[in-house]
Amino acid sequence: MIKLGIIGAMETEVRLLLQHLEGTQVTQKAGSAFYEGKLEGLPVVVVQCGVGKVNAAICTQILIDCFGVTHVLNTGIAGSLCAQLDIGDFVVSQDAMYHDFDCTPFGYAPGQVPGMKEPIYAADDRLIAYAFSAAEAENPGHTRIGRVASGDQFVCRKDKKTRIIDMTGALCTEMEGAAIAHTATRNSVPFVILRAISDKADDSAEMDYPTFEDIAAHRCACVAMAVAKRFAEE
Ligand code: ADE
Repeated sequence: MIKLGIIGAMETEVRLLLQHLEGTQVTQKAGSAFYEGKLEGLPVVVVQCGVGKVNAAICTQILIDCFGVTHVLNTGIAGSLCAQLDIGDFVVSQDAMYHDFDCTPFGYAPGQVPGMKEPIYAADDRLIAYAFSAAEAENPGHTRIGRVASGDQFVCRKDKKTRIIDMTGALCTEMEGAAIAHTATRNSVPFVILRAISDKADDSAEMDYPTFEDIAAHRCACVAMAVAKRFAEE
């Protein structure tokens, strides 16, 4: 049976999901509240993991070990790394990688964690398809499938943005996705990252982010609910 773990870093990213969750049971673990219930008829566990890679990895592992989730979806906002992706547009992860992990002096590829086969963590095809069609239904013609680059940095400078694009070829950058992908991959649990663009990850980001954070996060949560619905109807 499918049980979907849904992770958002911030309150704005999970608010809508919690409002729609039915039969909610709450468990506290490692400083986060895990909300079990049904979303659109699908058994889910929703958690606000907090910002950054470590928080994301902790909550992903708990979802898998303690709640037995079979699939993981990460919903949230991101900075655009691609001129065609504007504020409010969606990115669905084909795969994810770290932009701030560097063991290249030892012969590893940029972003590669020693012990992992590759620097890239591939998302699940079925989840990609569901997320893409749900995002397209929300905002037709404004969704792209591609790479998500994650690191423990809010990117708001052109030179940093350019470095991340050159290193990863990603469509967007945020602070949790690849850690969720890494953890899910180590546990052979299928995952997808779904992000709505809140800023351009350049000098305009400090202004745009607070303006669009709530709107983009809400939009993304709407699509996450639609993904749950598609799963429930299977
Ligand atoms: N999340 C949303 N915008 C971001 C940015 N510019 N950098 C990192 N994480 C983000």
